[in-house]
Amino acid sequence: MSILDAHREALSLLAHRSRRRSLIPRRGHDFASNDYLGLANAPDLRRAVVEALDRGVAIGAGGSRLLRGNDPEHEALEAEAAAFFGSETALFFSTGFAANSAIFSTLPAGRDLIVHDALIHASAHEGMRLGRATAVPAAHNDVDAYADAISAWRADGNKGRVWIAVESLYSMDGDIAPLDALAELAEREQAFLVIDEAHATGVFGDKGRGLADALDGREYVVTLRTCGKALGCEGALVCLPRVLSDTLVNKARGFIFSTAPSPLSAAAVRASLQLIRTQPERRERLARLVAFAGTRLPGQGSQIIPVILGEDARTMTVAAALQERGFDVRGIRPPTVPAGTARLRVSLTLNVDETMVAALADAIAELSA
Ligand SMILES: Cc1ncc(COP(=O)(O)O)c(C=O)c1O
Repeated sequence: MSILDAHREALSLLAHRSRRRSLIPRRGHDFASNDYLGLANAPDLRRAVVEALDRGVAIGAGGSRLLRGNDPEHEALEAEAAAFFGSETALFFSTGFAANSAIFSTLPAGRDLIVHDALIHASAHEGMRLGRATAVPAAHNDVDAYADAISAWRADGNKGRVWIAVESLYSMDGDIAPLDALAELAEREQAFLVIDEAHATGVFGDKGRGLADALDGREYVVTLRTCGKALGCEGALVCLPRVLSDTLVNKARGFIFSTAPSPLSAAAVRASLQLIRTQPERRERLARLVAFAGTRLPGQGSQIIPVILGEDARTMTVAAALQERGFDVRGIRPPTVPAGTARLRVSLTLNVDETMVAALADAIAELSA
């Protein structure tokens, strides 16, 4: 008997169900990252980081934002992000996961309702789990289902505020939320609307402002712009009214009791926002790649293409075979996606070209036949 036996057993149970995860090296053509605009290792961004180091930007913040860790780079980034996205203010977090946990655990009150899309990201679930509001799922992208959930809750006599939680572009399905209809519903219900723009920021909208661009700045709208995907960096910007930002600063435990993000990271994100604004050609090139892929793979009009194979073990076998052939494609299984919908998540980035996409499409057709 070893003190580690229970953990060994739990892992072998996962393996038995084809659900054991493990870290594998990065190799082959990139069809797996979220580095959609190829910025993560772009010379322009590298140069900006070197310049930031040269002008003395610190690597470590040295403390939490509320203590000594509040760096001018954080404040400059937040001011620039708010101006760019059109929100009253913005607050920088170390990761999107931390930001979503903070939003959903802190802003809705115990008497409130969160109606969230059935496919919302795990980080939003984490926040809801930590918070005190009632959380109910609504069928994916079905605005009537959202409205019905709100009516049912009101019919039970509840008087709190409603929070509607969605992603603008779904991370595992690549489809887009009906944001205008959701905003109408939010206005009708005097509800808040929280829009996770993780996969749309930098890729969609005027100058890469995302799909919720027109909604930013409204007092009931909170948007989340993660910086580790198309922006090629790390961290996340929550764009929201100042009173809500002040609430996070005062109440979000993950913000208060955590070392502030690296100032160098903030400087990198500042540079990246500048690049997405001034280099529309990256977005245009990605749009051409998405259009090309759409002729060969079952796309939804975005850079995220789910090839649903259904069964977990088969999905992982096909993904491994693709990796063997030099395509870095990852299989996605439950609980990340609903049971029975295991899939290859093909992600298009500027790190690949049309020839590689065509070769991948042929390999998927052959291996999944
Ligand atoms: C929709 C969505 N929201 C939030 C996150 C978390 O962001 P981060 O990777 O910066 O923690 C992710 C990351 O996978 C995501 O896909």
